[in-house]
Amino acid sequence: MRKTIAMIEGDYSGPEVVREAVKVMKRTAEVFGHEFVFKKVLMGGEAIDATGVPLPDETLKECLASDSVLLGAVGGPKYNAVPKDKRPERGLLGLRSGMELFANLRPARVFPQLAAASPLKPEIVAAGIDFVIVRELVGGVYFGKHETTVENGRKKATDIMSYSEGEIERIVRVGFETARVRNKVLTSVDKSNVLDCSRLWSEVFHRVAKEFPDVEAREMLVDNCAMQIVRNPAQFDTIVTENLFGDILSDEASMITGSIGLIPSASLGSTSCGMYEPIHGSAPDIAGRNIVNPIGTILSGAMMMKYSFAMPEEAAAVEAAVNKVLDEGWRTGDIFSEGCKKVGTTEMGDLIAKAIKN
Ligand code: NAD
Ligand code: IPM
Ligand code: MN
Repeated sequence: MRKTIAMIEGDYSGPEVVREAVKVMKRTAEVFGHEFVFKKVLMGGEAIDATGVPLPDETLKECLASDSVLLGAVGGPKYNAVPKDKRPERGLLGLRSGMELFANLRPARVFPQLAAASPLKPEIVAAGIDFVIVRELVGGVYFGKHETTVENGRKKATDIMSYSEGEIERIVRVGFETARVRNKVLTSVDKSNVLDCSRLWSEVFHRVAKEFPDVEAREMLVDNCAMQIVRNPAQFDTIVTENLFGDILSDEASMITGSIGLIPSASLGSTSCGMYEPIHGSAPDIAGRNIVNPIGTILSGAMMMKYSFAMPEEAAAVEAAVNKVLDEGWRTGDIFSEGCKKVGTTEMGDLIAKAIKN
């Protein structure tokens, strides 16, 4: 099969991790007899530098016309002073909403070889960490009205959070469908003791739950969930939550697996064209030194093969290659422990690409 992939390298460490994912995807295509064609498009800081805006029309058009989108990460100190509507992050949000990618899947799973890299006690890790966060991606406070006004000479900032029943229903359904093909437990995370958005969320959750009698429907308040993720992560199978809570909980969930550099994500809408990116940012503090971990981006490529290209065997081959390389003791600095062999970003990509087998 021939697939075209819009490639957004992004800023700071973004190009370093994308390069390795492309390397692994090209090798996978070669081994399985496919052709993956990557087309570079601009978004974020790189687009601001070249065109003055973070999301050129051309980029959205190219992304919508391609079979899928691969993204590194955008943003960083160079762009912190630009006006809010011109920030690199606005480009990312514009792309998510422009492509209507309302469902963001963020798996948190411990590779057994990396148990020592988790900051949790060994007995907590041994109980098992394997859950997925289904994050609503195009609603909530991210997309409400944002304004800063001046009252009596003092500034006042407002950000509006709102959710419609329809927006909640479609993401909750993705939550149930995801849980159904996993271990059949879905935890809806909200703040229904305080927020109207969460009360509506909970009402819709219980209504949709009736369509999925085979899935156990649980509810948890977000503050408790943040605590339970470090106390007893084995209790979670699938979590469904709104945009901002999902952003925060997924960074927390990533760290208990050893490093934020390991976690991929898939952003999906109603067509097969999705966007795939690691959950981490542009890691400006370590950019350009060949030390950033490319595994999260490489595994995002695997998710693309699975969800957008219906290539489960190819996706499994990438995961198996990552496993093999970890089994052999190769580690980037963020997941390094005594007795392992330290490698840089490009070497990690080379090793994984070489380990791809049909
Ligand atoms: P970050 O995720 O970039 O970095 C947080 C910490 O994790 C840093 O210490 C970094 O070195 C480390 N880290 C991140 N990825 C790593 C990897 N692959 N390997 C090893 N270590 C890694 O978060 P931040 O510093 O808060 O944000 C930096 C910029 O990235 C900001 O402008 C932010 O808006 C942007 N950002 C973009 C995306 C995206 O494009 N999808 C996601 C998150 C943050
Ligand atoms: C993420 C990032 C983005 C988000 C930022 C860069 C807009 O943190 O993908 O997790 O908050 O969604
Ligand atoms: Mn985030």
